[in-house]
Amino acid sequence: MAAADLNEQLLEERTREFNFKPYKDYREMLEKEQLDGVTVVTPDPFHKQIVLDAAEAGVHVLCEKPLDVTVEGCQQMTDACAAANVLLQVDFHKRYDEYHIAMKQKLDAGDLGRIQYGYSHMEDRIEVPKDWFPNWAPNSSPAWFLGIHFYDLARFLMNANGVAVWATGAKGRLSSLGVDTWDSISAKVLFDNGATVAFDNSWILPYEFEAVVNQGIRLVGELGMLECDSQDRGTVTCCVNDKPGMQTHNKSFLRQRFDKQGREVFDGYGMESIADFAYNVNVLLDGGTIAGLGSYPSGVDGIEATKIAAGVHKSLETGGIVQL
Ligand SMILES: NC(=O)c1ccc[n+]([C@@H]2O[C@H](COP(=O)([O-])OP(=O)(O)OC[C@H]3O[C@@H](n4cnc5c(N)ncnc54)[C@H](O)[C@@H]3O)[C@@H](O)[C@H]2O)c1
Repeated sequence: MAAADLNEQLLEERTREFNFKPYKDYREMLEKEQLDGVTVVTPDPFHKQIVLDAAEAGVHVLCEKPLDVTVEGCQQMTDACAAANVLLQVDFHKRYDEYHIAMKQKLDAGDLGRIQYGYSHMEDRIEVPKDWFPNWAPNSSPAWFLGIHFYDLARFLMNANGVAVWATGAKGRLSSLGVDTWDSISAKVLFDNGATVAFDNSWILPYEFEAVVNQGIRLVGELGMLECDSQDRGTVTCCVNDKPGMQTHNKSFLRQRFDKQGREVFDGYGMESIADFAYNVNVLLDGGTIAGLGSYPSGVDGIEATKIAAGVHKSLETGGIVQL
C-alpha cells in the first residue's frame, strides 16, 4: 500500500497512523509500486493530470468529485481510461445512500409517474471553506463542492440528463473573511425527462449549526412525491459539554462498529462507494471486464455532472439561461 501527498508533514503524520509507503511525487509512486488501483483526492483542478498518468500506468482509478472542472477535461480523462482499459469510477457517494436507493426503487417502479419538479439543498458549515481548505476554496464554489453531489443524484434517481440551467448566487460573507468565493448558489436545472429541479447550495452555515452538513432532496411526480432529509434522520441527537448546542449525526454516511474481536469497522455510504471501487477492481483482477461490472458512477456520469456545474457557473457569469 502506498500514498502520495505534496505535504510531507501530513505524510509523516499519516505513516505513524497507517502502514503504507509514502511518496511526495505521485508519479514516482505510480512508477515504483505495483498498484491495482488508486484514489485521487487532490483539490478539484488537480484530478485530471493524476488520472491521465494513472491511466497511462494501467492503474484503475477512483476519482473524487467533480471528475474535473471542465467538460473537455472529463472527456479527456474518460477517453484515456477507456483507451488504456482502466476502470474510471467517480466517488458520487450519494448513490450508495440506502435512503436514496429506496427512493430510486420507487422511481424506477413508476410509483411517482413522470417527475414534474424537485428541490434539493446541500449546505456546509462555514468552517469547511474558511478553515478546512481556504487556499483552494477560491477555485471552488458551493456548486463545484456540494451541488455536484446532488446534480449527479438527481440524474441517477430520474435516469435523466440536464439540458438547461439558470443560476443566481451571492458573495459577501466569505470574502469579508478573506476567502474570495461564492457564499451560495441557487440553480434551476431542466432535465431531459421534462422535470425541473432546484439546487440550493451554500457553505456559510454558522459554526453553531448542529452538523457539518445540512442536506436533503424531494421530487414530485404526477402520481406522488418522495422526500428525504439526509441530515437529521432521527438518530443520535446529543448535547455535550465540550461542544456548544445540539448535534445530530448522519449515521447513514459513516457508522462505526466493532467486530467480535473488538476491532473498529466502518460502514455507511461514505465508505460503501469506496468499497464498491475495491470490489470492482477485484472483479477485474479475477479476469472480469469493465463492461461486465454493472452499474457504478462512471466517467460518463462525471462528464454529465460537470456539464451541469459548468453551466451553473456560465449562467452566473452571463445572467441568462445556459443550454447544456
Ligand atoms: N466525497 C466527499 O464526501 C468529499 C468530501 C470532501 C472533499 N472531497 C473532494 O476531495 C478532494 C480533496 O478535498 P479535501 O477537502 O480533502 O482537500 P484538502 O486540501 O484537505 O486535501 C488535498 C490534499 O491533496 C494534496 N495535494 C495537492 N496536490 C497534490 C499533488 N499534485 N500530488 C499529491 N498531493 C497533492 C494536498 O497536499 C492536500 O493534502 C476534492 O476534490 C473534494 O471535492 C470529497
